Amino acid sequence: MAGEPVAAPIREAVAGAAAELRSGGIEPCLATVLVGDDPASATYVGRKHAACGEAGILTRDVRLGAGATQEEVLGAVRELDSDPSVHGILVQLPLPGGLDPAPPIAAISPSKDVDGLTPQNAGLLASGRPALVPCTPAGVMAMLDHYGVETAGRAVTIINRSGLVGRPLCSLLLGRDATVTVCHSRTRGIGGICAASDVIITAVGDRSRFTLGPEMVGEGAVVVDVAISRVDGRLAGDVDYDAVIQKASLVSPVPGGVGPMTVAMLLRNTITAASLGGQAGRR
Ligand SMILES: NC(=O)c1ccc[n+]([C@@H]2O[C@H](COP(=O)([O-])OP(=O)(O)OC[C@H]3O[C@@H](n4cnc5c(N)ncnc54)[C@H](OP(=O)(O)O)[C@@H]3O)[C@@H](O)[C@H]2O)c1
Repeated sequence: MAGEPVAAPIREAVAGAAAELRSGGIEPCLATVLVGDDPASATYVGRKHAACGEAGILTRDVRLGAGATQEEVLGAVRELDSDPSVHGILVQLPLPGGLDPAPPIAAISPSKDVDGLTPQNAGLLASGRPALVPCTPAGVMAMLDHYGVETAGRAVTIINRSGLVGRPLCSLLLGRDATVTVCHSRTRGIGGICAASDVIITAVGDRSRFTLGPEMVGEGAVVVDVAISRVDGRLAGDVDYDAVIQKASLVSPVPGGVGPMTVAMLLRNTITAASLGGQAGRR
């Protein structure tokens, strides 16, 4: 279940929409705020900027040192939020230790919240009225749709309960009439729960703590691997891919699965935010 065949047409549609906005006098612009010197975070931000460039979306790259204070991060977000030429704002997570992501995220106007993480957008999604939706969960849903995976009435298990992945996914799947089970580090009997599931979406990201093996997967199940981890120095997800693919009907690989979808959905959200034009900056 590769991500690229799903992501490529979305990027193309975004490029078309960006050109239309430009011809109407709106230059869509995404601003990112990167704090600290984590190389993985810098790579992800770099990919997002490159994808924006290819789609005809302007970018603003705000970087703060690892020693930045809570006030400095908040100040950077507030400045971007009050700038009418910036349509989308993304604070790259996680922030370095000691910094609370909640205040800078809450300082983003909901109409510029392209990560869908502000209390307002998270609340809308949780109450079944999605507006700007977090990119990775939206990308997972688009992948399931593209590959014809039915979720209505099916047992779907999510292994993750974060605000970035598990919680928004749960809301999206409930909105599609799935029967959703959310597992986490305190869940007992994850293997049995997974084995009884039609769809498993896993996002732990630490193979020393959790690996999804074939004994946890029912015949013909669908497995989506959101995690980014390393095995013997190589990029991998939570799933023992070679073994699980023998039993599952579809498995998303890492790399090349959900990753491109996250970026495509960020572009799409930025276009949606830019289309909100006059609303930008309002709360
Ligand atoms: N491909 C992409 O575009 C993309 C985008 C976003 C994130 N990711 C990846 O997805 C992963 C999760 O990201 P995140 O931000 O949601 O991380 P996170 O906040 O650390 O969430 C990890 C989740 O895994 C659970 N967990 C930890 N150990 C477990 C165990 N032994 N059994 C079952 N569950 C366990 C945690 O449970 P507790 O809640 O109990 O701690 C938590 O809910 C990471 O690898 C991240 O890099 C990928």
